[in-house]
Amino acid sequence: MPAFPKPIHLAHQIIKKLVQPGDIAVDATLGNGHDALFLANLVGEKGKVFGFDVQPSALESSSQRMEENGITHYHFYLTGHENMAEQMSEENLPLAVVMFNLGYLPNADKSIITTEQTTIPALNSALQLLKSGGLISIMCYPGHAGGDVESEAVSEWAENLPRENFRVVCYGLHNAPNNPPYLLLVEKLS
Ligand SMILES: C[S@@+](CC[C@H](N)C(=O)[O-])C[C@H]1O[C@@H](n2cnc3c(N)ncnc32)[C@H](O)[C@@H]1O
Repeated sequence: MPAFPKPIHLAHQIIKKLVQPGDIAVDATLGNGHDALFLANLVGEKGKVFGFDVQPSALESSSQRMEENGITHYHFYLTGHENMAEQMSEENLPLAVVMFNLGYLPNADKSIITTEQTTIPALNSALQLLKSGGLISIMCYPGHAGGDVESEAVSEWAENLPRENFRVVCYGLHNAPNNPPYLLLVEKLS
């Protein structure tokens, strides 16, 4: 067991402690639905998971993953996470956690990537929709073309959040080559 968990595993550990049965959670980048399934198991049948992705194949594989695991308390949208605010109805707010796993869908079209143009508006929406004590987790991948610019924009966004309302933590390997992935966690204080 390594002393330092991988960034995504640390995100899971922290989210596990925070999320309660009955909570509402969002996976803002569904991909293959691993994070959505993780969240669905935490919120339980009294809670609900909402998911967003722009690729039909991502919705298909994520829905299949939920069905294979007997999960029915979810709703996935084939639209960008920048439309999160207009898709979420009052009855499903506020959110306990919003997960962003940026970049491209592994084993698929690597030209379809998240970009700062939509990620930053989505992050701002998530801040609004989050409850006090809620959390946004963001896996940043600066190692691919476009991911460097996006990661920089997201880090700058996070650095500039007002300290009286948000707490921001950054975690990643600091002495590795090729711009390794890192995790940003934003806790909403009030
Ligand atoms: C790294 S993958 C996510 C992995 C996923 N969390 C999992 O557990 O498998 C990034 C995903 O973001 C999606 N994406 C790209 N632009 C998006 C947008 N504007 N809104 C939502 N998802 C987007 C891609 O289609 C891709 O599936």
